Amino acid sequence: MAKITASVYTSHVPAIGAALDLGKTAEPYWQPLFKGYEFSKQWMRDHKPDVIFLVYNDHATAFSLEMIPTFAIGTAAQFKPADEGWGPRPVPTVIGHPDLASHVAQSVIQDDFDLTIVNKMDVDHGLTVPLSLMCGQPPQSDFRWPCPVIPFAVNVVQYPVPSGRRCYNLGRAIRKAVESYDEPLNVHIWGTGGMSHQLQGPRAGLINKEFDNAFLDRLIADPAGQAGVPHIDYVREAGSEGIELVMWLIARGAMSDKPPRVVHRFYHVPASNTAVGHLILENQ
Ligand code: DHB
Ligand code: FE
Repeated sequence: MAKITASVYTSHVPAIGAALDLGKTAEPYWQPLFKGYEFSKQWMRDHKPDVIFLVYNDHATAFSLEMIPTFAIGTAAQFKPADEGWGPRPVPTVIGHPDLASHVAQSVIQDDFDLTIVNKMDVDHGLTVPLSLMCGQPPQSDFRWPCPVIPFAVNVVQYPVPSGRRCYNLGRAIRKAVESYDEPLNVHIWGTGGMSHQLQGPRAGLINKEFDNAFLDRLIADPAGQAGVPHIDYVREAGSEGIELVMWLIARGAMSDKPPRVVHRFYHVPASNTAVGHLILENQ
């Protein structure tokens, strides 16, 4: 049987991707941020999964505002890095896992969560920046990500967006789906986006360290309680784009009901307009 052994949570700020791609990681502005991921890159090498189930949001790149699935699972064999206006990032094509993705779709849809099945899609910074932070830039001699990745896109861009409760319960359904897959795969699930940030309007630049750290505490210790927090609290306290944090509850819901082992926790302000938060949790 497949098993979810760990979850990873990280922000996805596009400027982080640009800093990596343009060789700026040692600059004084960026150095403290990338230092917080040194542990994580070593942890990834030491705990290489067979598959990453990567929960992220598309930023009107693959879907546009013409068609907005609430939850979309990537069942394709591969996903190209998207061109978001500056050309595609110079990172490897994401190799999917169509068989496990189809199995999860079957199981989760039978569990009454409506997923959109996506057989062709490019992936934007929401997915590629977390991969870059956790895996570094693969060498030209072996230009690929360390394992297959199943992209799972959540609408947090256009209201109505799914509630924290629904995201958490969906995570539990994903756990059940993975555990009923008939192959001994080691699966990691990632929740990405956040933390506090607002990119628009009079409150642009909003950062709320207290809210962010309380969110991290509660995501670890009381995820079911955190799942009950309504959207308006995220938007008021963490800014309009802080709502991306509901995606972290999908990954957390997919973890065991036993308390997780916190193997890494990092928080840094600022990266572009955004507070960066990062956790690695292992199942006991
Ligand atoms: C920024 C953050 C985001 O989450 C995003 O999708 C785009 C930009 C930023 O801080 O610049
Ligand atoms: Fe974003």
